[in-house]
Amino acid sequence: MKSANLKLFALIGDPVEQSLSPPMYNAAFRALGLNCAYVALRVPKQFLTDAIGGIRALNIAGFNITTPHKIGIVGLLDELDESASLVGAVNTVKNDRGKLIGFNTDGEGALRALEEKVGSVREKEVVLLGAGGAARAIAFSLSKAGARLTIANRTVSRAKALASTIEQKLGIEVEVASLNRAELTGALKNIDVLINATSVGMSPNADQTLVSASMMHRGLVVYDIVYEPLRTKLLREARRAGGRTIDGLGMLVHQGALAFEIWTGKRAPIKVMEAAAKRELRG
Ligand SMILES: NC(=O)c1ccc[n+]([C@@H]2O[C@H](COP(=O)([O-])OP(=O)(O)OC[C@H]3O[C@@H](n4cnc5c(N)ncnc54)[C@H](OP(=O)(O)O)[C@@H]3O)[C@@H](O)[C@H]2O)c1
Repeated sequence: MKSANLKLFALIGDPVEQSLSPPMYNAAFRALGLNCAYVALRVPKQFLTDAIGGIRALNIAGFNITTPHKIGIVGLLDELDESASLVGAVNTVKNDRGKLIGFNTDGEGALRALEEKVGSVREKEVVLLGAGGAARAIAFSLSKAGARLTIANRTVSRAKALASTIEQKLGIEVEVASLNRAELTGALKNIDVLINATSVGMSPNADQTLVSASMMHRGLVVYDIVYEPLRTKLLREARRAGGRTIDGLGMLVHQGALAFEIWTGKRAPIKVMEAAAKRELRG
């Protein structure tokens, strides 16, 4: 790594200490022989504006943005790509000769990871748990890809707001449900795919799940975007019910690969990135 013409990339969020992104991107840069490095920077909410000024001053080539800044960053950028303006949130920024352009690769990353395992989601009945940042991006991507979507969230008003934004922006109707056990069990009957995009089941609360085996049917595809741990309680319940499971690693790698391609213009070494993330998860 030559420091004179090194291109620097970063993750901005709070917290960032546990992030898998630095090993994943640094492995990709090494694999392609690029003189680039990626660092995680903890930026509390009150310093976001200063941090973006710093990015411009230091000419950082690109960055990822994570909790709690994915929405707050929007007004600090010069331009939004369609992926970000549709969702109203950004997870990737490219510094294009001083112009900061925001993208959102979460939805497309999640869709690629899902379709890689089950094929096209067109006309598939999908229940999406969650209406937070990740769920928002996934809901738009699934709707655009032709899935028939129901959004179920603890705060039902957030699910309703997301459904009506999708209807307004894409002209596609989306159903809404609560997490009430009877209502959710009804919504899950005969569906093709269940996606968890809430933080339920994430370490240190790894013994929690919003859906148990008795609410699932044989053959159901159950996709949990939580990746810490990879084998969540939800996925274990799905196995008990005779379902097919997809863990959160694929989304992590694909959203990262899309960001890598936006920054470098080069095809991302997906296998290298996946191996680096897996190594880090196994610790
Ligand atoms: N695999 C990947 O690449 C990837 C990428 C992004 C995120 N993720 C994971 O996805 C998860 C969500 O991330 P996010 O950024 O979307 O978070 P977020 O914006 O904070 O949204 C959190 C969501 O979880 C729901 N929730 C939280 N606690 C709950 C509980 N006890 N019971 C029911 N619902 C609950 C919230 O419901 P309310 O609206 O009612 O609060 C909301 O829908 C995290 O675990 C994150 O690590 C994975």
